[in-house]
Amino acid sequence: MIAESNVPLQPYNSFGIVAKAHTLVRVAGEADARAVALDPALSAQPKFVLGGGSNLVLTGDVKPLVLKVEVRGLRLVDESARGWVVEAGAGETWHDVVAWTIANGYPGLENLALIPGTVGGAPVQNIGAYGVELQDRFESLDAVHLDTGECFTLSAAQCAFGYRDSVFKREAVRPGDFGLAGRALITRVRFLLPKPWKAELGYADLERRVLETGITRPTPQQVFDWVCAIRSAKLPDPRVIGNAGSFFKNPTVTPDQCADIIAREPKVVHYPMLDGNIKLAAGWLIDACGWKGKSVGQAGVYEKQALVLVNRGGATGGEVMTLAKAIQTSVYERFGIRLEPEPVVV
Ligand code: EPU
Repeated sequence: MIAESNVPLQPYNSFGIVAKAHTLVRVAGEADARAVALDPALSAQPKFVLGGGSNLVLTGDVKPLVLKVEVRGLRLVDESARGWVVEAGAGETWHDVVAWTIANGYPGLENLALIPGTVGGAPVQNIGAYGVELQDRFESLDAVHLDTGECFTLSAAQCAFGYRDSVFKREAVRPGDFGLAGRALITRVRFLLPKPWKAELGYADLERRVLETGITRPTPQQVFDWVCAIRSAKLPDPRVIGNAGSFFKNPTVTPDQCADIIAREPKVVHYPMLDGNIKLAAGWLIDACGWKGKSVGQAGVYEKQALVLVNRGGATGGEVMTLAKAIQTSVYERFGIRLEPEPVVV
């Protein structure tokens, strides 16, 4: 285990923001994480676990000890009538894992193709796209407790997944609370890819592909290709234009609140949820406030998807957050809705 000083973080965050880690340790396996937890000098420091940096806004140099997850490995660990279980190291690139499962005949992750980031970040924010969330394909994960150095395994129920949420985002405020924010480092994730495979085509953009192509029974590879095409058409490639995906969560309102908004804004895009509440498309709300293409300094609102903030070249985290706050204010003033940011702000 080597602790490096003053490490540039620009290559490690998809927004491409310039900042440094005061101290950074690369974690290639459980032993490295354990060594940090047991090191007298390092163990006492606050820690920040860095995965793919694809859901992150850096507002300055990072003072907590940065643990950069570089655990590799990808294998089929079980196959039964229930499905395939695939295990991936937390440092593997998410999209490469999806592509590998499809190429090797273990389908089920295709709707989650092209999501930026690494495997370890996927359960933290329960990534989701086109009608599938990570929790729908999750078996278990291994992690190291950063206070004790102990390895542990969590089931889906123990991860307490919610919409872009999990136990890894929650702080343990009171003794007895089960919150692991900043206290655990995920090393490996296992996915359960159920048999028989069934295409998930319920999302409007995928239904449109079925109608356009006349292919009503696509293969996993075809769904994968459709998802890649849909994402590439409306979301910026972080290797070309820095961004952190959707910047805000889609807000939830009660039926009464929704009826009130529809009375004023009949076109508002909304989806009923199983619990009776209604989810609103944050991108539509921001778009309706006229934000597409607007900027604060070098931070801007993407022209093709108002929910995505982009780095037009040299943006600072401060500019991104000033833009985000201005968007929140205008959406609140017009619709009475408070938008909650999705990325972690450090
Ligand atoms: N819309 C607009 N204007 C915009 C953006 C969107 O009118 O500028 C409308 C769209 O026309 C559509 C609706 O809003 O009717 C929803 O837009 P979209 O289908 O692009 O999906 P989203 O709700 O904005 C969510 C996820 C994405 C995920 C897509 C596809 C969140 C916060 N975002 O976006 O996830 O890829 O659905 O499933 O839940 C991410 O989390 O980083 C992310 C990219």
